[in-house]
Amino acid sequence: MEHPILENNRSQPKRPVLAILTVDDELQLFRGNRSNFADILRAGHEHGFTVYVVTVKHLKLLKSKVTGFTFIEESQSWQKGLFPLPDIVYNRVPMREDELQPHVKRKINALLKHPTIRIFNPAFFNKWSLFEWLNMSKSTRPYIPATRKLVTQNSLRLLLKRHLFLYLKPVSGKAGKGIMAIRLQPEKQMPYRLRMQEKRRSLNYNCATISKLWAKIRKESSGEAYIAQQGIELLKHQDRQFDLRVLVQKNQRGQWDVTGIGARMAGSSSITTHVPRGGSIEDPDRLLQYSFGQEQARKVMIKVKSAAILIARQIERGSGHSLGEMSMDLGVDKHGSIWFFEANSKPMKFDEPHIRKKSLERLFQYSQYLLTKKTKRAGGA
Ligand SMILES: Nc1ncnc2c1ncn2[C@@H]1O[C@H](COP(=O)(O)OP(=O)(O)O)[C@@H](O)[C@H]1O
Ligand SMILES: [Mg+2]
Repeated sequence: MEHPILENNRSQPKRPVLAILTVDDELQLFRGNRSNFADILRAGHEHGFTVYVVTVKHLKLLKSKVTGFTFIEESQSWQKGLFPLPDIVYNRVPMREDELQPHVKRKINALLKHPTIRIFNPAFFNKWSLFEWLNMSKSTRPYIPATRKLVTQNSLRLLLKRHLFLYLKPVSGKAGKGIMAIRLQPEKQMPYRLRMQEKRRSLNYNCATISKLWAKIRKESSGEAYIAQQGIELLKHQDRQFDLRVLVQKNQRGQWDVTGIGARMAGSSSITTHVPRGGSIEDPDRLLQYSFGQEQARKVMIKVKSAAILIARQIERGSGHSLGEMSMDLGVDKHGSIWFFEANSKPMKFDEPHIRKKSLERLFQYSQYLLTKKTKRAGGA
């Protein structure tokens, strides 16, 4: 394996440099998904890039060399080294808490303003902003379930008047944490049915009045900001609901493109489809064909792709920043309508090998595109 410092030998044409940005860690050099970072390094080398992992603390923008980390295949370990300042910074600061720290915010802002360095994916999304951005455009409004901030009992009551089935979700949540669902069954003695997502199953709580329901929700949500959202009756297969995970990235022309679509099917007693909560990885074409037959399933997939691209464009517009990729959770109902649940600005590794492979290629194809743009503004990052 080439030594990183020799890679940028002065006599050779300059290799493009991409730095994966994260934060440092007391125990293990840096935080983040190391196997993901190692894959990105490998893919970058194949595309002729110098790639390294850098922490916010080490990325000193006024220096010409930066301390970073590279992965040594022979020893399967991370090694410190000196690297050139990056042309491109790929933000993978792993947690919201980290991104909110003042020194992290300052560095990201400095990168956004930097005359030559391009940074993409400047911040995590939150579920309420996503809703607001998508609600602003006629092209994306049809895909979003009715959503409100869950602040008072009255906000809940207003939404329940129109929708007997609701999802409650923390605005900064992920991986199904803190998600609840409500069904109002007016004919029942205990009409309010709350389901709360536990580790791998959901717990039920039934009550007679909305004030009891509200008290329970307050207790369960423990002070976190929540949204309440119209519940969508997702398609089911073998009595388990499923939804789609769409990876959208910018391509070699700098345009949004669907890299791949996976499906996740909920565990039998789960209200979300996450794999760690008992969900399973499925083939989206096959699942849609069970529900709709081949011809109709094909049409739904085409609609999913065009919806995902419209949504990505509008999220980018709403966020006010240049984005390079995002993953989306989309649901499909029995009429074949498509529903947006959320988008993640720092997508996790897809388990489907074909999507994974293409996602790594796209990352560098888009980076290459950014480098061919003369000015930062035109590059869009
Ligand atoms: N409004 C909704 N109607 C039906 N199902 C939903 C709704 N919102 C979320 N879900 C289900 O819960 C899962 C998790 O919701 P999501 O918004 O993606 O939160 P998280 O950030 O925890 O992944 C979705 O993938 C979907 O299966
Ligand atoms: Mg999700």
